[in-house]
Amino acid sequence: MRRLLAGSAVLVLPGCEGIQSALAPKGADASLIAQVSWVVFIGAGLIFALVLGLTLYALLAPQARSSWTASHGFIIGGGIVFPVVTLTALLVYGLSLTGSVGRSTEVPAVRIEVTGEQFWWRVRYQEHGGKAAVDAANELHIPVGQPVELTLRSADVIHSFWVPNLAGKLDMIPGQQNVLSIKASAPGTYRGQCAEYCGIQHAQMAFYVVAHPPEAFERWLAERREPAAEPLADLVKRGRDLFVAVGCGACHTVRGIDASGKIGPDLTHVGSRRSIGAGMWPNNAGTLAAWIASSQHLKPGNKMPSFNVLSGTELRAVATYLESLK
Ligand code: CUA
Repeated sequence: MRRLLAGSAVLVLPGCEGIQSALAPKGADASLIAQVSWVVFIGAGLIFALVLGLTLYALLAPQARSSWTASHGFIIGGGIVFPVVTLTALLVYGLSLTGSVGRSTEVPAVRIEVTGEQFWWRVRYQEHGGKAAVDAANELHIPVGQPVELTLRSADVIHSFWVPNLAGKLDMIPGQQNVLSIKASAPGTYRGQCAEYCGIQHAQMAFYVVAHPPEAFERWLAERREPAAEPLADLVKRGRDLFVAVGCGACHTVRGIDASGKIGPDLTHVGSRRSIGAGMWPNNAGTLAAWIASSQHLKPGNKMPSFNVLSGTELRAVATYLESLK
């Protein structure tokens, strides 16, 4: 029995850690939510054990049926009074603890707009410290220990913004603007996921949140404000020229070259992101080339057409160029 319990603990407990877990809170709101969850889990476990115990008692001691367990007091107490008192207490406790979740009275250190699109995340760091706004995608960078205000919108259907380690879910609704305040308590990389079915690639709509110490965050943001790096190697130059020539700039912006499309993600610093395809693959020249050539096979239903007109060398040049945009 002990071995069985130890075995199941080994199976269950690793699920409580990791970069996408509501049970490994790294933010004030997530801590409150985790606290309520544990109270519910433990309370439900104890009640389950109590009911099992009473069931065994009734099965193994049939003579007891005629005694106190069959009395009116037991039925009314266990069947009505106990659930009413327990559930009311749980409701009051839950509301008192989580009433302020998602809201903050502090002045935000950073304001970020996040727009859900089929099937990726458009990100805009609003003017900060008197400097211009910065566009990005599929990744949020925030300072640790400072309140961050997220304005959540949708460009098409309902999505839901959820980073379990940091906060609860909040829907992104077309025509409406929802505000979520988050604050990370520890530096690290956390994973978020769209939590509302939004179409064929709903399950592949993820993103990362990177929490930096405040000075590192300011440095990071200042770097992202710079235009794209000028290519040095021949292959990279060829990639940049092809990027412009085949019309990638109709949908994508790369600040510093002739590409200012707004339909797809801003690619000015795409090479510095952790993933491509909204969390689907690690970001490198290989996955970038695969995505350009076959995006409709890799993620059917996304809005980018497969560019299968490029030759192998051309594809490699464009992918190497994008990878160089750190
Ligand atoms: Cu976006 Cu589900």
